[in-house]
Amino acid sequence: MKIDTSLITPQLPEALSQAGLQFTVATEDDFDDIMAMSQDIYGGLDYLPTRYNSWMQEANRTVILARKQGKVIALESVCVIDNGETMLVEGLRVAPQERGKGVAGVLLRFCSELVKTKYPEVKVTRLTRDDQLGPKDFQKYRVITKQGILLVRFRAEDLRSCLSEVGLGRNSESSTSNPSPVLLDPTAIQRLYLTTDLMHGVLPNTTIIQDWQPFKPVPSNMAILLKKDIDWMVDDMSSPTVASLCTFPFRVPIGDDWYYLNIDMFGKDLDLVRQQYLCHLQRHTAALKGHVMCQMFLDPPLWKPMAEFCLSTLKVELVKEYTDQYVVESDVV
Ligand SMILES: CC(C)(COP(=O)(O)OP(=O)(O)OC[C@H]1O[C@@H](n2cnc3c(N)ncnc32)[C@H](O)[C@@H]1OP(=O)(O)O)[C@@H](O)C(=O)NCCC(=O)NCCS
Repeated sequence: MKIDTSLITPQLPEALSQAGLQFTVATEDDFDDIMAMSQDIYGGLDYLPTRYNSWMQEANRTVILARKQGKVIALESVCVIDNGETMLVEGLRVAPQERGKGVAGVLLRFCSELVKTKYPEVKVTRLTRDDQLGPKDFQKYRVITKQGILLVRFRAEDLRSCLSEVGLGRNSESSTSNPSPVLLDPTAIQRLYLTTDLMHGVLPNTTIIQDWQPFKPVPSNMAILLKKDIDWMVDDMSSPTVASLCTFPFRVPIGDDWYYLNIDMFGKDLDLVRQQYLCHLQRHTAALKGHVMCQMFLDPPLWKPMAEFCLSTLKVELVKEYTDQYVVESDVV
């Protein structure tokens, strides 16, 4: 059943009601309509087909659809995090034939009004962007942090044989003399991220970015993160220099047997970054068959040496040149 959000929303500014759009809260039944308007989105790396059902179950998330004459033409998800202070905006998409007409702007403002009514304590809106930000965006947003995006693709079977050929198999005894990375269990994660300040120098602007979602290291966020399938790694539990989060591979609609592997890497030591990258690749391609789009987010100066390593040693294909991932925020007014 569709819920008409006019029942639960505040009075909207006149400009919004003039746009001729209806807004509804998304339900399981809307999945096919959403997918129909989202074809080829994010270069085929759309996470929504895999995530949609779990999004529907998350208590702190609202997914809003914009409809025109009853037809779904846009989607936006808002999630309240950081102890209720932050509204995280995700999944924005507008049907191709409706782009460039201001629909995204209207939907964003609608969602903001809705969240302000439901969660009056929300202070800021946060989002991550990988498109080209212009001067207007920098006026609108504060930059929280920036990571470089390294996107490569490979067949899991090819990477596996390459890893064993060059002796980069289990435990990743790469060229480094560093000890093996440590895979953290939930207790160790909580201890390291919440009860010490050891991660403050490692995380960019003290932000845990996991698969495009920026979180402050606070208990309510850790509860969200610990429910997800993620491998958490550090080089050294007592004095970490590099930390990483690898989201378990999931299917993306780019083609049959295509997977997306997301690695968020924090820290500036190239050797340690390479070591954790290899460890994640080794762990997650061991049982995988098919094509993998592997996206690593890392400290921008490390992009070039890591891209060279990927091309020359791992023999994988570079999908795109250097791209920024910006984490930005603006005040909720
Ligand atoms: C990006 C997209 C949603 C823009 O839709 P649109 O209806 O053509 O955009 P508008 O005409 O409303 O104009 C842009 C407005 O949306 C905002 N916007 C554009 N991209 C945005 C993004 N990724 N996140 C948040 N806001 C964005 C702009 O800042 C602007 O806001 P303003 O009205 O306050 O100035 C649309 O092109 C699309 O669906 N692209 C494919 C999916 C995609 O790339 N989504 C971005 C996720 S990172």
